[in-house]
Amino acid sequence: MDEPLEAAYLLSQVGAEEEAQRLRAQARGLLDQELALLLPGLPRNARVVDLGCGIGLLADALSQARTDLQVLGVDADALAVQEARRVFGHRSHLSFRAGSLQAGPAEGEELADAVILRLVLMHQADASAALQACRAWLRPGGQLHVLEGDDRAILAEPAGAWLERILALMQTVQLRRGGSRRLGLDLAGLLAQAGWRPAGLSRLDFDLERLGPVFEGVFFPVADFHLKQAVRDSLCEEEEAAFLLDQLRQGCRGGFSRAKVPLFHAWTRSEGP
Ligand SMILES: C[S@@+](CC[C@H](N)C(=O)[O-])C[C@H]1O[C@@H](n2cnc3c(N)ncnc32)[C@H](O)[C@@H]1O
Repeated sequence: MDEPLEAAYLLSQVGAEEEAQRLRAQARGLLDQELALLLPGLPRNARVVDLGCGIGLLADALSQARTDLQVLGVDADALAVQEARRVFGHRSHLSFRAGSLQAGPAEGEELADAVILRLVLMHQADASAALQACRAWLRPGGQLHVLEGDDRAILAEPAGAWLERILALMQTVQLRRGGSRRLGLDLAGLLAQAGWRPAGLSRLDFDLERLGPVFEGVFFPVADFHLKQAVRDSLCEEEEAAFLLDQLRQGCRGGFSRAKVPLFHAWTRSEGP
């Protein structure tokens, strides 16, 4: 890559093997719902670019569900691209390459009919600039789809002040790493700020009732990662972090009667024919 990338998340920084497993579990819990949102609007034979594709799960699911699509996954993390290629590299109409969303398409690369950013914006130091950078990837009239979480909209019952404390610590850690875990509720405003006119908004839920033990496997490691960092950053004591994680584990293992982690979807179109 031409220039060093500033992002709050790179697979290689968060424990590649465990994180790949977590991403697979997360995808299993949500992909069907996401495909139902994305696929109907994609034109026939569309070229789709999944920016920040990670280990390629969404890119692969798109190309499996619609064999007319040409799907390119791009990720700033060479390790993620290597893993995506290892697992899905043999498929036709699906390719992966290293690159940052800010760098735009490679020389001679075709522009996209649709760009997807899934859980990538939350890791950018400047979300508005990242949304502006997406413009360079799209042909006129092309679609930009953004999928983001927002910890402010997490629902877990019954839970006490301990959950608020976990979420506050996670956000402080994320802000320090150069991102934010509180973007999903503001997607329309962020798009508008970056010069896009939002065309549609919706919400999906990662649901404890539906997912059972998968819920813990997806949500717990993220909290664990952030709280360990919070201890290293002296934002809390080790004992408090252990207490908070224990509460969360108990919640996931039967303590919660209801729990939902939302994923917000916003889409827009680049100006043109
Ligand atoms: C939380 S993961 C999400 C991966 C995938 N989109 C998914 O939903 O499973 C965020 C991914 O974005 C990549 N990433 C972060 N900043 C990026 C940037 N500026 N350009 C390209 N990729 C980036 C990371 O390397 C990581 O693989």
